[in-house]
Amino acid sequence: MDRYLVFGHPVRHSKSPFIHTLFARQTQQELEYGLAEPAVDEFAQALRIFFDQGGKGCNVTVPFKEQAFTLVDRLSPRAKRAGAVNTIKLTDDGVLLGDNTDGAGLVADLKSHGVTLADSRILLLGAGGAARGALAPLLAELPSELVIANRTHTKAQQLAAEFHDLGPVTAQTYEQLAGPFDLVINSTSASLQGELPPLAPALIHTDIAIYDMMYGASDTAFISWAKQHGARQTMDGLGMLVEQAAEAFTVWRGIRPGTKQVLRELKRNLGVI
Ligand code: ATR
Repeated sequence: MDRYLVFGHPVRHSKSPFIHTLFARQTQQELEYGLAEPAVDEFAQALRIFFDQGGKGCNVTVPFKEQAFTLVDRLSPRAKRAGAVNTIKLTDDGVLLGDNTDGAGLVADLKSHGVTLADSRILLLGAGGAARGALAPLLAELPSELVIANRTHTKAQQLAAEFHDLGPVTAQTYEQLAGPFDLVINSTSASLQGELPPLAPALIHTDIAIYDMMYGASDTAFISWAKQHGARQTMDGLGMLVEQAAEAFTVWRGIRPGTKQVLRELKRNLGVI
């Protein structure tokens, strides 16, 4: 049977095996999908062994995405832009192809929630790996403006300069931000420490859409905060997780699984509904 897995550390709580097993059942594809948690300095070796032993493809998550970028034979244009690889496919001619489906997953999830990106003013919080992966797919939707704000302003400036050729992207400090924005995307890891990005409450209004790439069994700190300040449409990163997986599955199997039912089952599994 064709073998796939996700590499990460820690990876025990990954929902990818659950999601891909449901995709495989739904599309009647014969495959198995597991987990691998190599020591942080043993990822390269573990990856080689997996493919030497007949593995067909894998996902890569924290902290290995940047290293995976350097280990594949060929990069997709979107992986090149993201500077990170979250999906690897062994092609029929034996080439390890590195791809990145995170940004496409974000855009697909935003669209499935009815969020309009064309001509919109988007505020992206954070300038780390998650922000970098999102920029090209967001700019491809032709927003009127995309502003990056980051605690360390120089990192936002660097990112804006790097993606400037793809669209109207600028960097502003949190203090400089002036609304109204149509959509705010939180790509920071602030909620992992129970913190909030230092965003002025005045930027939140009833018609704004709020997206947090993080997720949990209950509202993230950022979503709770945005709701308190009047945001009516809030979304967490669970849908992005399922959509990036669907995109990876499509890269591997050439068939696109449906995501709605799988997202519902994942929510049930997590105790969200
Ligand atoms: P990831 O790959 O998930 O993006 P990362 O590359 O470590 O992770 O980036 C984390 C992002 O969250 C950074 O933009 C970071 O800001 P700095 O560049 O200033 O470090 C941001 N971040 C983390 N904790 C934060 C906090 N408490 N408030 C605001 N931003 C925070």
